[in-house]
Amino acid sequence: MSLCKIQDSEIYNVIRNEIERQEFELQMIASENYASQAVMEVMGSVLTNKYAEGYPGKRYYGGCQFYDVVEELAIERAKLLFGADAVNVQSHSGAQANMAVFLGFLKPGDTVLGMALDHGGHLTHGSKVNFSGRIYNSVAYGVKKDTFLIDYEQIEELALKHKPKLIIAGWSAYPRDLDFKRFKKIATKSNSLLLADIAHPSGLIAAGLYSNPIPYCDFVTTTTHKTLRGPRGGMIMMKEEHAKIINSRVFPGTQGGPLMNMIAAKAVAFKEALEDSFKDYQKQVLINSRLLADILIKNEFQCITGGTDTHLVLLDLRESGLTGKEAEEALSEAGITTNKNAIPFDSQPPTIASGIRIGTPGITTRGMKEDEINQIANLITKVLKNHKNNNVLKSCKKEVNDLCSRFPIYSYLL
Ligand SMILES: Cc1ncc(COP(=O)(O)O)c(C=O)c1O
Repeated sequence: MSLCKIQDSEIYNVIRNEIERQEFELQMIASENYASQAVMEVMGSVLTNKYAEGYPGKRYYGGCQFYDVVEELAIERAKLLFGADAVNVQSHSGAQANMAVFLGFLKPGDTVLGMALDHGGHLTHGSKVNFSGRIYNSVAYGVKKDTFLIDYEQIEELALKHKPKLIIAGWSAYPRDLDFKRFKKIATKSNSLLLADIAHPSGLIAAGLYSNPIPYCDFVTTTTHKTLRGPRGGMIMMKEEHAKIINSRVFPGTQGGPLMNMIAAKAVAFKEALEDSFKDYQKQVLINSRLLADILIKNEFQCITGGTDTHLVLLDLRESGLTGKEAEEALSEAGITTNKNAIPFDSQPPTIASGIRIGTPGITTRGMKEDEINQIANLITKVLKNHKNNNVLKSCKKEVNDLCSRFPIYSYLL
């Protein structure tokens, strides 16, 4: 950082400000986390300088001997972590990992059955504004109106009617476990390939705290930066028989040179995730999110599905008299970062939304436990119930600052 200060003071200042924001505010976006010092060090290493198109032992550039070691380590550790047959660690992102699966096994116009975006699915699961819904014929399943739980009967009905080439199990905002065995049964009946996108719960899965889809799926994609707590990036796990096609669709199908610094950082994160302390961390993530949901419910908020099996809580604000946008803004004023989120059957557009998504991976990485969750849940309650009162927001922000100061995360960078 000190060299950057001399070389480019504008970017240096932005980074300083961002370190302070991350250090002194409560980061509660469910898809974010704090990567370790080791992971960040490797991302910023000389490994960024090299082209290594191809795969270990089969590169299109000279000088890749050390990069083969890096990539093989990442692959072996990922296999160990999830019990996968074959792994591709080159996807630059979760979206590109999904794209490689589509490109490998579907033709334009083929049918895909995925969870609707406004019911908790992801853009890449068939949304009309994404490649997955523009190039392919997408059909969406959702949750039940009374319980907000996934409607497996509907999935089966749609699968038998539309005979999708691919069924996608996975979510960005669904607080419950998935029945991957049931998905597999449906996929077998409709003769569909099955993709599980575990971008969100992959850290919980690695720790054995959420159902593992590997035994049931043809492909399992994930991001590496959410609960898994690694660098930004994607990864594809698959049955060995699909590896050749998937590898060729990642490179040269959708990408050029792999980001070898990021692959090395993925390897470091996987090593961290293989340690017992990571399992303890994920246990605490769940304790924290469940407690947060319980207190918010006690404080008269509606929680989608009445609780959580995951790192996230989805609040339904329809009865609270404020929109997701207003809630996100008020919490942000108080130093608590969350995101507005559509809830199933939402009457508001996604830019306003009727819900907020609150996650515990980040604050748990800082070491926050039950006492702090009590304090945070009450802060959230105070902010949402007084969202127009600047004095309340100011005093909450002071309390958030004090709390964060007791749980430093990047103080060594300040
Ligand atoms: C379920 C799911 N799949 C894929 C992605 C895309 O990941 P990325 O942002 O790395 O492209 C996300 C990101 O939020 C996600 O939640």
